[in-house]
Amino acid sequence: MTAGYTIRRICKDDYEGIIDTLKVLTVVGDLSRSQFEEIVDHWDSVHVNGTTTRQYNPHVIVEEATGQIAATGNIIIERKLIHQGGLCGHIEDIAVSKNHQGKRLGRFLIDNLTQLGFDAGCYKVILDCDEKNVPFYEKCGYYRAGVEMQIRPN
Ligand code: ACO
Repeated sequence: MTAGYTIRRICKDDYEGIIDTLKVLTVVGDLSRSQFEEIVDHWDSVHVNGTTTRQYNPHVIVEEATGQIAATGNIIIERKLIHQGGLCGHIEDIAVSKNHQGKRLGRFLIDNLTQLGFDAGCYKVILDCDEKNVPFYEKCGYYRAGVEMQIRPN
């Protein structure tokens, strides 16, 4: 881990910092504090098996000196029928704030979320990304597999 930073699970106090950090990824839109808190409650309450493994594992990397959120990302653990009721991890919404990029925080975040998935018993961890981010994910040990497709409502 880059000196001066720590990683932890998201909590309700992270509202402003998370919204700000996610701006490098996409438009967050009009998400109120109470909506954010309701989503964090939901994330905290859902488990994939018993009470040990949480389905949603949203994390933040915090700069110790300022308390500022420098990066965020999530791994969602899906319980499947295939692979004998196996678990598949989905890495989502990775963002490192502009002024914290290039300090290996992204790499640390991906390594942590991936390990969390493997520790939970996932037989694989997958993610979708833009072509421009492929070299970054390759440095994190990921390789190309399949093609992402999507459809949106009219
Ligand atoms: N092209 C080539 N190499 C890259 C790139 C890139 N775009 N980005 C990082 N790297 C390399 C670095 O040079 C470094 O290499 P090194 O170990 O040989 O020195 C290695 O990857 C690790 O880089 P980090 O410093 O950990 O990268 P950073 O903390 O800046 O995070 C990230 C990278 C997450 C892509 C960041 O730039 C970002 O938040 N971008 C905007 C939002 C975004 O695109 N998020 C990913 C969406 S995909 C998803 O959510 C599943």
